Amino acid sequence: MTWPRHTDRLVIRPVTPADADELWALQSDPALNRWTTRLYETREEFDADWDRLASVRLVAQWDGKTAALLQVIQQDAWSQAEVRDRAAGQQVELGWIVAPWAAGQGIATELAREGLAIASDMGVHRVEANCFAANTASWKVMEKIGMRREAHTIQESLHRDGQWYDGYGYALLTAEYRRAQREETT
Ligand SMILES: CC(C)(COP(=O)(O)OP(=O)(O)OC[C@H]1O[C@@H](n2cnc3c(N)ncnc32)[C@H](O)[C@@H]1OP(=O)(O)O)[C@@H](O)C(=O)NCCC(=O)NCCS
Repeated sequence: MTWPRHTDRLVIRPVTPADADELWALQSDPALNRWTTRLYETREEFDADWDRLASVRLVAQWDGKTAALLQVIQQDAWSQAEVRDRAAGQQVELGWIVAPWAAGQGIATELAREGLAIASDMGVHRVEANCFAANTASWKVMEKIGMRREAHTIQESLHRDGQWYDGYGYALLTAEYRRAQREETT
């Protein structure tokens, strides 16, 4: 993979230690992280998780400022035991956070679309993204980039507020993504 990658407005690259303060600001904001997997409450917790975080986050800059984070987690696809080695690393899970100053301007959609391109370039079989069903902005991003709603789980997700919520699971095969790209250019 060659970095940085460019979209119309964004310059996307892996996280470096110099990004730590900006990541901390984004990932410790309670309102912004209402529906995310983890809200960091102390800088110590955040620092302790830094190596893992930095390995699965890309930074997207817009006009030289950090506008968003893209999570790219490479995972093993589900498989039967006998073919486990062939399913290893065959899936990417995407996630996103947009800084409040950049929200509402299509940045998540632009970044998530590039996330599909990144997953395709990584050579994986399938891309997925998951969210609480109540997180409308997030599942709209998934739909806008052509991902398919494959699961609606009922009160399967426990929120830090103590309530069980519905979840949505979206996915796209990288072969489908590439086919759509070819159709767009012909
Ligand atoms: C979800 C998030 C990334 C969307 O970022 P964004 O750059 O504002 O999204 P976009 O501008 O690309 O908009 C995507 C769609 O969501 C809609 N949308 C944006 N904010 C919304 C909101 N608060 N409520 C409902 N819809 C919203 C947009 O209108 C657009 O849909 P449309 O084209 O049908 O109008 C951003 O709200 C965010 O960072 N949320 C907090 C972190 C989070 O929840 N991440 C996802 C965890 S699964």
